[in-house]
Amino acid sequence: MKHLAALAATAATLTVGAGICQAANGDPVHGAQIYQRCLACHSLEHNRSGPRHCGLFGRPAASLPDFNYSRAMKATGLTWDEATLDQFLENPLKAMPGTKMAYAGVKNPQERADLIAYLKKATLDPEICK
Ligand code: HEC
Repeated sequence: MKHLAALAATAATLTVGAGICQAANGDPVHGAQIYQRCLACHSLEHNRSGPRHCGLFGRPAASLPDFNYSRAMKATGLTWDEATLDQFLENPLKAMPGTKMAYAGVKNPQERADLIAYLKKATLDPEICK
C-alpha cells in the first residue's frame, strides 16, 4: 500500500505536466484500481495461479522458468508491450485460444489504457519490483 501511495503521488505530479495527453497515455493511478481485478490470480512479485508481473514490460510471453504456461502462451512469440497487452487483455480467450487465463477481459479501452499505464510503471519500478 505504501508503494501504491508513492506511485499515486508521482503520477499526480506527472499529470499536471502532461495535461491533455492523459487519455492517450492512460492514468496509472486509475490503472492501479483496475489491477485489483487481476489480483485474484496474479501479484506483482509472486506467482499465484497466474505468473508474477514484475518485469512484465519488454518480457517475452511465457518466459518465466518457474511458471507452468499453457502451450498456447508458449507458442505466441509475443513480447509484452502496450500493443500486445492491449490486444490480449481485451479478450484473452479470443486473442489467444487455448490460454489458461480464464478471464473475460477488460472491455473498456480507457480502462485498458489505464491498466497498461499502471503495469508499465509498476513492473519496471525497482522500488516495487526488486
Ligand atoms: C482467473 C485467473 C486470472 C485472472 C483474473 C487474470 N489472469 Fe492473467 N493469467 C492467468 C493465468 C493462469 C496465466 C497463464 C496463461 C497461460 O499460460 O496460458 C495468465 C497470464 C497472464 C499474462 C502473461 C504473462 C507472461 O508471463 O507471459 C499477462 C500479461 C496477464 N496474465 C495479465 C493479466 C491482467 C493484467 C489481469 C487483470 C486484468 C489478469 N491477467 C487477470 C490467470 C489470470
